[in-house]
Amino acid sequence: MRKIVIAIDGYSSCGKSTTAKAVAAELGYAYIDTGAMYRAVTLYLLEHGISFEDLPRVEQALHEMHIAFKRNRKTGRNELCLDGVIREDEIRQMRISNLVSEVSGIPAVRHAMVRQQQRMGRKRGVVMDGRDIGTTVFPDAEVKIFMTADVLTRALRRQEELALKEEHVPVEDIVENLRKRDHLDSTRTESPLRRAADAVLLDTTHMMIDEQVDFVLERVSASLFSLAAAGWQGNEQK
Ligand code: DC
Repeated sequence: MRKIVIAIDGYSSCGKSTTAKAVAAELGYAYIDTGAMYRAVTLYLLEHGISFEDLPRVEQALHEMHIAFKRNRKTGRNELCLDGVIREDEIRQMRISNLVSEVSGIPAVRHAMVRQQQRMGRKRGVVMDGRDIGTTVFPDAEVKIFMTADVLTRALRRQEELALKEEHVPVEDIVENLRKRDHLDSTRTESPLRRAADAVLLDTTHMMIDEQVDFVLERVSASLFSLAAAGWQGNEQK
């Protein structure tokens, strides 16, 4: 069966990664969390004491660091690996969430990450979540979803996720962080967060995960069907 690219973009904490992971598992596709890559760059710069404003040093750091995903055999999940070490927990901490939009707005960082993401998806058969997948990384993605949800709903979801990792953060702080990131992500000059003209809008405020997953899978079936139909028509014309 033909493999396609599924781009899931949208605001932070709308359920993009949970949905994307489940869709990838259902289809036997690879799941790539592009936000984790920007988080890893942020962690690297912090740990090496590199100022985000020191652009030549940031560019050098992009050549030095090695970002990859490793499959955890026990959980079946792809985990972010920075310089050979799994750093999933650290990259999700609030200290990183508070700085990541600054780092992801640096053009050299975006260029390096976009190039790597395009390489990761060149054979297709991937579900990629992020902010600019349908607009910049894979403008030719066969399925494009743009997810949104009410900011308080998103903050409560993120609070629950953090609490599971023993990080207890007041909901107001999370709302503030989400608002700040939404603003920075949508107003940066380099590939800002915006809905691609051909992306389908999915508001998850009142949706359960299963419904979100079914919504995306329906779009995938429709896309595969129309690709197959186009193939049949192409064959008939030959
Ligand atoms: O999805 P996330 O919250 O883990 O993403 C972390 C940050 O990375 C987010 O504030 C915006 C940025 N990001 C981006 O600019 N482009 C992407 N494709 C993915 C994430």
